[in-house]
Amino acid sequence: MDGLLRPVVDCDARRGRGGLIAKNANPARKVTLSARVNSVYTRQMLSYQHLYHAGNLADVQKHSVLAWTLDYLIQKDKPLTYMETHAGRGLYDLSAAEAIKTGEAEKGIETCANWFAPSHPYSRAIAKTKAERGQSAYPGSPLIAGHTLRETDTIHLCELHPQEHAALDYATSPFGAHVYAEDGLAKAVSILPPTPRRGLLLIDPSYEVKTDYETIPRVIGQIARKWNVGLIYLWYPILTDAPHRLMLNSLRQDHPDALVHEVRFPPAREGHRMIGSGLFMINPPFGIEGELKRLTQRFSSLK
Ligand SMILES: C[S@@+](CC[C@H](N)C(=O)[O-])C[C@H]1O[C@@H](n2cnc3c(N)ncnc32)[C@H](O)[C@@H]1O
Repeated sequence: MDGLLRPVVDCDARRGRGGLIAKNANPARKVTLSARVNSVYTRQMLSYQHLYHAGNLADVQKHSVLAWTLDYLIQKDKPLTYMETHAGRGLYDLSAAEAIKTGEAEKGIETCANWFAPSHPYSRAIAKTKAERGQSAYPGSPLIAGHTLRETDTIHLCELHPQEHAALDYATSPFGAHVYAEDGLAKAVSILPPTPRRGLLLIDPSYEVKTDYETIPRVIGQIARKWNVGLIYLWYPILTDAPHRLMLNSLRQDHPDALVHEVRFPPAREGHRMIGSGLFMINPPFGIEGELKRLTQRFSSLK
């Protein structure tokens, strides 16, 4: 199993976020894949490891907005559901060789932590993670949710990569999360609308396969029709050739009331294609505009 999942080349150069899209990820080929090719396809799809990118500027945008939103939602004394389709491992060690190698956390949270007051829900989740797991620990979105939500809330997390799934299961066990080694989008369609009915779905794919950009608007449409009260947040990278553009046009057309928040930042290193990131938010809470505006101002100060 380990051999199957080991990337053939450096994972950092192959991932969808700023790196190369997998060569065999042509949508026309996908429908006719034989079982053998399908296993190659699966292996490529699972080569992404968020440890190389944890705490980068895109995470700062996504995780701070997520923490702020969940904190807003728990002000109401009613239980909620949090679900993630692409959860990652939940807990990251920013002193690991993978994180040091890209230097993305150094240019990300390690530079920007002072953008957020200690009372900000993002700072609080980071502080709790460091207190429990050590100073170089950084919370992925599942741990941000775990540290922000209450015992009465329900957490569903999907992660397909076996090693990431095992790490996620371990990292989130204190929060009683339901952790699935299943395709996240299919699982979301099957269990939403959830019980409790109010809540948030985070969709945070690695965009290693070009078809993600076509599949996502269709699946979000399906979910939004079934769960019209749910908050649905989609994260996407802004790459130099803007592959997200068609997806975003389609989402905007289908959900005209949704909010879009985009930030730009310098590439992590020369030749890196990610120059920003975006969040597409259906049913975001009242008052989020102020938080987003503050974040935009912070990002615009980056050189
Ligand atoms: C960008 S990472 C998630 C990061 C995490 N949301 C965070 O912010 O901390 C994307 C994850 O999705 C996983 N993944 C890829 N395809 C998947 C699928 N179809 N269903 C569930 N997980 C998948 C990858 O293994 C990877 O760990």
